[in-house]
Amino acid sequence: MHNISKIYKLKGKDEKKELKSWEEKYKKTIPIFVAGGIDSGKKIAELIKQGATGVQIATPFIATYECDAAQEFKDMVIQCQAEDIELVSSPAGMPGRAIVNDFVKKTRETGNICMKNCLHCMIPCNPENTPYCISEALIQSVKGNVDNGLVFVGSQAARIHEMKHVDEVIQEYIEEMEENL
Ligand SMILES: Cc1cc2nc3c(=O)[nH]c(=O)nc-3n(C[C@H](O)[C@H](O)[C@H](O)COP(=O)(O)O)c2cc1C
Repeated sequence: MHNISKIYKLKGKDEKKELKSWEEKYKKTIPIFVAGGIDSGKKIAELIKQGATGVQIATPFIATYECDAAQEFKDMVIQCQAEDIELVSSPAGMPGRAIVNDFVKKTRETGNICMKNCLHCMIPCNPENTPYCISEALIQSVKGNVDNGLVFVGSQAARIHEMKHVDEVIQEYIEEMEENL
């Protein structure tokens, strides 16, 4: 269950007071968009009722005909089980969530996958000690080479079982949200 006060709690400070001080400083209303694991209109309605301006949704749109990733990437999402999804370390210096495939197992075993042709695409990533090249890992999986790439997914990916059209997903969410507001 999402709880907006947990989501934007800022190191124990009163979150609404914290937001208000920035709104006053810049004389602007600051919108709150909640992200992560949102996969139903009911969840969107709960968040709106708690004060969210909107939501950001990624994973449910992977298994859509319009998504430009390879079908192999989409099939990984459709076929994954909850226990296949784990936090992985990312060269960006933050944890990421991914399907544990051969690539993730290899990075965990070797600790470092040799890098070629580093483009220094990300400031926090050091090619000397990065566990793998994130650009290469994402390019491989998006192209369909899913055993040699990182398949990033959200926490609720295992609830996706079929391909849909983007407008179907959006329509479903809007209808369910309106029923629950
Ligand atoms: C395949 C995939 C790629 C993503 N790429 C980016 C990215 O390039 N930049 C970014 O800020 N967030 C990225 N995200 C994070 C999403 O923008 C979003 O905040 C989060 O995944 C929402 O959770 P959900 O996937 O459970 O809906 C990505 C998420 C996924 C699943």
